[in-house]
Amino acid sequence: MKHKESVKMWKRALEVFPGGVNSPVRAFRSVGGDPVVIASAKGAYLTDTDDNTYLDFVNSWGPLILGHGNKKVVKALKEQSELGTSYGAVSVQEIRLGEFILKHVPHIERIRFVNSGTEAVMTALRLARGITGRYLIVKFDGCYHGHSDGMLVNAGSGLLTASGDISVASSPGIPAETAKTTLTVPLDDEQSFQKIFELYGDKIAAVIIEPLPANAGLLKQRDEFLKLVRDVTIRHGALLILDEVISGFRLGISGFAGKYGVTPDIVTYGKVIGGGLPVGAVGASREIMNHLAPAGPVYQAGTLSGNPLAMAAGLATLNAMLEKNGYDKLSDLAKYLGKEFSKLIPSALEGKGYDMTLVQEDSLFWFSFHETGAYEPVRRVDRIWNKSALIYRHLFKALLNDGVYLAPSAYEVGFLSVAMETRDIDLFLQKLAAAIRKSPTLQEMETPEA
Ligand SMILES: Cc1ncc(COP(=O)(O)O)c(C=O)c1O
Repeated sequence: MKHKESVKMWKRALEVFPGGVNSPVRAFRSVGGDPVVIASAKGAYLTDTDDNTYLDFVNSWGPLILGHGNKKVVKALKEQSELGTSYGAVSVQEIRLGEFILKHVPHIERIRFVNSGTEAVMTALRLARGITGRYLIVKFDGCYHGHSDGMLVNAGSGLLTASGDISVASSPGIPAETAKTTLTVPLDDEQSFQKIFELYGDKIAAVIIEPLPANAGLLKQRDEFLKLVRDVTIRHGALLILDEVISGFRLGISGFAGKYGVTPDIVTYGKVIGGGLPVGAVGASREIMNHLAPAGPVYQAGTLSGNPLAMAAGLATLNAMLEKNGYDKLSDLAKYLGKEFSKLIPSALEGKGYDMTLVQEDSLFWFSFHETGAYEPVRRVDRIWNKSALIYRHLFKALLNDGVYLAPSAYEVGFLSVAMETRDIDLFLQKLAAAIRKSPTLQEMETPEA
């Protein structure tokens, strides 16, 4: 595979953007090597500037549930651009998408559109604080909620002892005072969660969680844990924010909450509801949402919020998913992937010194690496095997050179799209098996000079 043009373009990118990118993980830092530069995409495939094609499991990090350039979405965008690209006024497009979402998600009665998942979370947090009059937010290690100040924090040493720093910023530029307003606890840990409420319960405005954590592997939570989170928040008068930016409208039309019956106070969306254009949203009961300006005093605004192009792409995407039984197709494809993985991959792993389990939830998947024969479901980020990044880096590179585009990080999930067929899955698994076979053993990876 030649990358002459990509190399040239990447050099140009490095002269324009910090680290060459407009979002860090695109820079391939955790897998090494230079990114390929994408020129176009269609269906299940990306094409780079050298005309190489790649079967795409990133799908723009989740929004493209129908794959690239879906006909209905393109048509909706063309039609809408003739009607205007932004009005800065109430529009029929935003009403249509809003009504669609309210119709399909029983636990929300009002919605506000914003421009990204980060913005949706910021709005949800302000709303929770504005309603409760409390200032602390509880977040879980390994969950990602965008890059707003209060969401980029790690647990500090004094977290569970009420002494020392409560939380520390995980990026320079975040005031220590802001970091301290977020309490961070491990996932899957009832005791720590209850302890935090014993210590700070009357100050906690909200708990925010990805109900299906998908930003540090795919850390499927136990039902009992999620139920405890729900019960404890109710008991202490804190609001529960389910961050469904990834899972919303991907695990079915009513997201994780609809599929598993965990009812949030506030829900955040993004990705799929914009059909590939920038969108986020906050939804809740009428009572909660009526605290937002101008209905209530909690301020939030946006020049391009409810942008008609994004609304049109989102509505076309969701309609197409329903009309074409998209969710059933994705579930079937996911089952096929699981079945074929277990047929093809174990033999390729023989003698490699590591094992690999495919973790799935509908159209999301993640490779969980572990010692041979020692698989335990991973539910928290500190339980991810520390060899994972090293192994993934080898497989990622081999697959990229063979025309498969996986996320450039061992901690990111893969996304199936409706544009994929079983033959794409077959191709992927053949290439994955070949990549494993031709990659070094774990021992060789760890001692490359030997
Ligand atoms: C669960 C979750 N919340 C929030 C965000 C932030 O969304 P955005 O990147 O659109 O700001 C992301 C992004 O990946 C996410 O996965």
